[in-house]
Amino acid sequence: MKEKLLALKEQAMAELEAVASLDALKDIRVKYLGKKGPMTEILRGMGKLPAEERPVIGQIVNEIKSALEEAINAKTEVLEKKALADKLANDKVDITLPGRKAAKGHLHPITLTMREIKKIFMRMGFDVMEGPEIENDYFNFEALNLPADHPARDMQDSFYITEKFLLRTQTSPIQARTMQSREPNSPIRMIAPGTVYRNDYDATHSPMFHQVEGLVLDKNISLADLKGTLELFCKEMFGSSVKIRLRPSYFPFTEPSAEVDISCVICGGKGCRVCKNSGWLEILGSGMVHPHVLEMSGYDPSIINGYAFGMGVERIAMLKYGIDDLRLFFENDLRFVRQFK
Ligand code: DAH
Repeated sequence: MKEKLLALKEQAMAELEAVASLDALKDIRVKYLGKKGPMTEILRGMGKLPAEERPVIGQIVNEIKSALEEAINAKTEVLEKKALADKLANDKVDITLPGRKAAKGHLHPITLTMREIKKIFMRMGFDVMEGPEIENDYFNFEALNLPADHPARDMQDSFYITEKFLLRTQTSPIQARTMQSREPNSPIRMIAPGTVYRNDYDATHSPMFHQVEGLVLDKNISLADLKGTLELFCKEMFGSSVKIRLRPSYFPFTEPSAEVDISCVICGGKGCRVCKNSGWLEILGSGMVHPHVLEMSGYDPSIINGYAFGMGVERIAMLKYGIDDLRLFFENDLRFVRQFK
């Protein structure tokens, strides 16, 4: 019996020596010291032993048990330390590795162009006004002297929401809104950038596009003020060598009205495909504010007068960057958009 016990101890110690993981160690503990292990079995079977052997064997069993217990505890400590050291070694963060770059977005070319237009006018002392994109018939048309039979009022050309409300077709309603928000006859110098909507779609038209409106009202404003301001704007926007010209035109809310052209930014005025050999590019509509428009919004045309203008932001961006299809702005092709970083 004694030899058997000592052999068991030898075997357990050898296994303990070889064990390499905490899990395997747990198995050894169960195997030798567990309820179904050989030690428990021997202790249980003590009754069958001759009386004089019992205390001797009992003592040996207890000695082996505590020796094993101690060895297992020591080994546990060793293995736990090793596990921690391994974990620390494997989880090491290499702080010398270069970081991953976050993909950074940038502004859309239309936003960039809008901002540039705003900046130029703000430097000249213009306020920046806003108005609603869902506009009523009165501000979008009536207050701007647009007659009932004007084609823009047609259901086919404008996006109506109800009979009286539509997506604004122009930023011009902000002229009337600004006048009506001010003390009558007080001077105004404002621009109104914004999104507008029309039922059009081709290489030069999109159902959603952007305009910047302008309105200047004061005493004794003349066409020369209009021309001087717009000339300065065009030179800032397209370069100081750009020339402008005013061409007679018609808008219901201005009288007289003028289309403003700039000398072709591609050929410098010699004539090319872009300017259709004319040397000029049309960039905006303008004119002296119609007396009736002033009256309808509470201004007295015998005291106050002024000019207004409206430009298409997409058109300006196309000319500035040499883009030949307006739809590119809204198709979200990153190869296009990323060129404006
Ligand atoms: N609202 C006009 C359009 O959408 C542009 C325009 C022309 C605005 C002349 C003006 C202006 O203020 O005086 O075509």
